[in-house]
Amino acid sequence: MLEMQNVVKIYRTDLIETHALRDFNLRVADGEFVAVTGPSGSGKTTFLNVAGLLEGFESGSYRLDGKNIGELDDDARSRTRNQKIGFIFQSFNLIPDLDVFDNIDVPLRYRGFNAAERRRRIERVLELVGLASRARHVPSQLSGGQQQRVAIARALAGEPRFLLADEPTGNLDSLMARQIMDLLEEINSRGTTIIMVTHDPELANRAHRNVHVMDGQVTDFHAFESPLAAAV
Ligand SMILES: Nc1ncnc2c1ncn2[C@@H]1O[C@H](COP(=O)(O)OP(=O)(O)OP(=O)(O)O)[C@@H](O)[C@H]1O
Ligand SMILES: [Mg+2]
Repeated sequence: MLEMQNVVKIYRTDLIETHALRDFNLRVADGEFVAVTGPSGSGKTTFLNVAGLLEGFESGSYRLDGKNIGELDDDARSRTRNQKIGFIFQSFNLIPDLDVFDNIDVPLRYRGFNAAERRRRIERVLELVGLASRARHVPSQLSGGQQQRVAIARALAGEPRFLLADEPTGNLDSLMARQIMDLLEEINSRGTTIIMVTHDPELANRAHRNVHVMDGQVTDFHAFESPLAAAV
């Protein structure tokens, strides 16, 4: 379960203070597949960054899997992030000098898995995203869609409980976008909770639930009333 109550996130630069999240309220039950939509600059990526423990927040409460995130120190936050969260970034964030295999290997090394276990996981996710034959290519030798699939494979290799995806199909044609969506649905059906930002209404419609974000707030009245949570 992911639960944010009145979360406030402010970005400060010398010139301007941006209230990127203002009283952000959302509850996502285990096993849900939630699509997040909203205009550019409304705070979608900010929400994912805070939800994914990549960034802190000023006030409000955030509970993830029963843990009060605001009370965790940096080490505990990093550990929670590494163990529970997979992240697919808006720009893939692949390391250009490393080949596909090694890109996926980096977060697994952080987790301390031995070489055999890492290889098993990497081969499995590459099979899943259809890139088994590209393990030794570097990112510049791959198409945009293939790079996106590497980013997805990297997020999945850790077998995360939560998968946070920022426009995972943004750079893909509609056929490839549908295939990625098929893959995400399959992963969700195996138990991973997914929160996906998308501009694509067709893909958003395939999620269990849509959450609309506007000016740093969730606009839906029922955002806190997860249908699955009610059933528990
Ligand atoms: N690191 C930062 N420093 C300062 N301001 C930031 C930073 N990151 C985001 N912002 C501001 O916070 C607001 C929300 O940005 P965010 O990236 O969350 O929007 P978004 O909904 O993901 O937009 P898009 O659909 O274009 O990706 C914007 O006004 C943006 O300029
Ligand atoms: Mg964004």
